[in-house]
Amino acid sequence: MSRILRVKDKDFKLLIPRSAIATRVAALAEQINADFHGQEVLFVGIMNGSFIFAADLLREIKLCATISFMRLSSYQGQSSAGQVEMVFGLPGDLKGKNVIVLEDIVETGTTLEYAIGMIKKMNPARLAVATLLFKPQALTRTISLDYVGFELEENFVVGYGLDYDGYGRNLSSLYVMA
Ligand code: IMP
Ligand code: MG
Repeated sequence: MSRILRVKDKDFKLLIPRSAIATRVAALAEQINADFHGQEVLFVGIMNGSFIFAADLLREIKLCATISFMRLSSYQGQSSAGQVEMVFGLPGDLKGKNVIVLEDIVETGTTLEYAIGMIKKMNPARLAVATLLFKPQALTRTISLDYVGFELEENFVVGYGLDYDGYGRNLSSLYVMA
């Protein structure tokens, strides 16, 4: 039973149902709770895509935690390698803090590499990355991912915060282009 869903002008089909996402997000939170036991953590969500992942993950976090969001915009130049520029951002002082960056999806890794670079300059005590989705075949940057929800093929997905041209973020499951 695979229902086709129209988002803007394209067809998508169910990839990961909301229940499976919830189970996996809870498991990631449990790992983070164990790894950072007794410590304080500042989560930094990358806007816009991570907002639902961040909201669900944070509610499973049992640590002393705060959250902030940074927005990066990436645009395509003439080459296929995207450029990234920060639009708005980070809390002023990350020095000595444990920081966990939250991403919706890592594809080439360009967005994340930029975010990590910015954060590292501020000398956090510990820096980790949690991404709901990872397309390993598309990775072109050298970055390490500490917590990964699901590995995907290189197909385009929407839902659970991820968009197609701005649409589809409100879908509670993940859908892949049909
Ligand atoms: P990267 O910089 O190439 O790693 O791309 C990461 C960004 O591209 C993510 O934060 C998303 O905003 C977007 N992106 C990559 N793949 C998808 C997808 O399949 N669906 C929706 N957005 C995507
Ligand atoms: Mg994103």
